[in-house]
Amino acid sequence: MKNLLQNLWEKVTNSRPWKSFFRHGWPDNPLDRSLIMTTNIFFHLHPVRVNKKSIRAAYSLGLGVITTVMFIILALTGILLMFYYVPSTELAYFDIVKLQTKVPFGQLLRNMHRWGAHLMVLSAVLHMVRVFYTGAYKPPREFNWVVGVILLILTIAGSFTGYLLPWDQLAFWAITVGTSVAAYEPLMGKTIKKILLGGPEVGQAALTRFYGLHVMVVPAILLLVISLHIWRVRKDGGLAANEVKDDDELEAENDSN
Ligand code: HEM
Repeated sequence: MKNLLQNLWEKVTNSRPWKSFFRHGWPDNPLDRSLIMTTNIFFHLHPVRVNKKSIRAAYSLGLGVITTVMFIILALTGILLMFYYVPSTELAYFDIVKLQTKVPFGQLLRNMHRWGAHLMVLSAVLHMVRVFYTGAYKPPREFNWVVGVILLILTIAGSFTGYLLPWDQLAFWAITVGTSVAAYEPLMGKTIKKILLGGPEVGQAALTRFYGLHVMVVPAILLLVISLHIWRVRKDGGLAANEVKDDDELEAENDSN
């Protein structure tokens, strides 16, 4: 009986379907351990060898990951919001009221999107402060710092363009003030205002443009640049703390000398 089960188990684990799902054996040897890291997209985000300090929660506070999760939540809730929202000056405000009062979980959906946006800006800023505090902007990570600055600008652009969409008094006047401030930029200010509003004042053309930017242009660029950013973290050898030797590594080196 035992032999039969063992044969069956071997047959299953040697079959093509099994091998197409599980590409490595049990991690009880160095080869299978490294295959686990390199064949899994989430583990592969870390270099094959990481030191303890760089994966300690207290080091990075997980702020980059939190920002990434916020982006995913915003994308998912944003898609659901698109089912109920029409970017028209006549319908937009009432669509939001309807969403909050008639649609099941509509209030929750809107609040998740709104609070998620606030939290994404906050966590991106805190993440930048952490990177600065730990000196992780220094070579070879200076390129990723610049990519990060672009991400922060895009995150703020996402918040700004979303602000107009509820088409209430707060939205209307916030964008009126915001685009008037932009017009004071000495070289391109007036052109930027015209491009954003599509006319002399906030109206249907502005709502259409902000909607297009908010649901398509900004998220698509954010997705691309976040992917580039995370790929760079991996290619720069993981977090900067990974370059510092662990106490036990130093001890092993001292012992061998
Ligand atoms: C949408 C915004 C952002 C996302 C989603 C994001 C995501 C991430 C993730 C997942 C990591 C690796 C884990 C971690 O450090 O927590 C990371 C690392 C890093 N990020 Fe960001 N980030 C963003 C904005 C920024 C900003 C604003 C800066 C700086 C201006 C920045 C600079 C860096 C650098 C230099 C690293 C490497 C850190 C190290 O080696 O310790 N990022 N980012």
